[in-house]
Amino acid sequence: MRAITTLALALGLTLAVTSVQARDWATIKQSGTIVAGSEGAFPPFNYFQGSKLSGYEIEVMEAIGKKLGLKVEWRALAFDALIASVRQDRFDVAIASHGITEERQKSVDFTNPHYCSGGQIFAKADGPLKVADLKGKTVGVQLATSYADSVKKIGALKEVKTYPKDTDALQALIGNRIDAWVTDRFVGKSALEKNAAAGLKAGEMVFVERIAMIHKKGNAELDAQLNKALAEIKADGTLKAISQKYFQEDISCPN
Ligand code: ARG
Repeated sequence: MRAITTLALALGLTLAVTSVQARDWATIKQSGTIVAGSEGAFPPFNYFQGSKLSGYEIEVMEAIGKKLGLKVEWRALAFDALIASVRQDRFDVAIASHGITEERQKSVDFTNPHYCSGGQIFAKADGPLKVADLKGKTVGVQLATSYADSVKKIGALKEVKTYPKDTDALQALIGNRIDAWVTDRFVGKSALEKNAAAGLKAGEMVFVERIAMIHKKGNAELDAQLNKALAEIKADGTLKAISQKYFQEDISCPN
């Protein structure tokens, strides 16, 4: 009897500490605010302009908020902390260029994709520009990304260097501390334009992926609302206009 009481007590305590609930749609709607997480170091998708989060994904989320009749309240976190934070209910949704993968689907749910892209090799003009050329080379990638996973699978590399921020991997390439950088094709394209003097070149695509927002598993009503708003900004040309502004092309997924 005593053991049971102790167990129940211990259980009750644990529950009290960990049972912060994911906010369901009704609660979010009623509060008038959706809390969104991002990183702020993945230009031009999400980055800081002074103290303000900016970029394609920030504008996409703001447009979605508008359709939902909600104010967007932003939280910026390290990229590798975002999935755990969604699980811990630190925000309602995260938009930070997460590629849809089976592995991540074990921890979080994905909305429909807001853009389609993929990982691409970037190097100095005399560096490795093809997947086959990466053998024996040092490749830099951001920690906890699909680039890190895909590069590790290539095999026979000299070293895979992981950086907490993708912009650090770019700096490592510019400073010749790595032979190649694998990142999003549009991130790389923009980095090439911004660092024209560094003599960087775009190489082969390594893989393609669909990029979507993430939210707490099983929050079906929220998922439906986000997808509905995404479909609306797709249909009325808002998504395309944001894409044109940052990329001079439409990067949304064909279907
Ligand atoms: N698309 C890649 C992935 O799914 C990289 C995302 C990196 N995002 C960021 N905000 N740094 O892993």
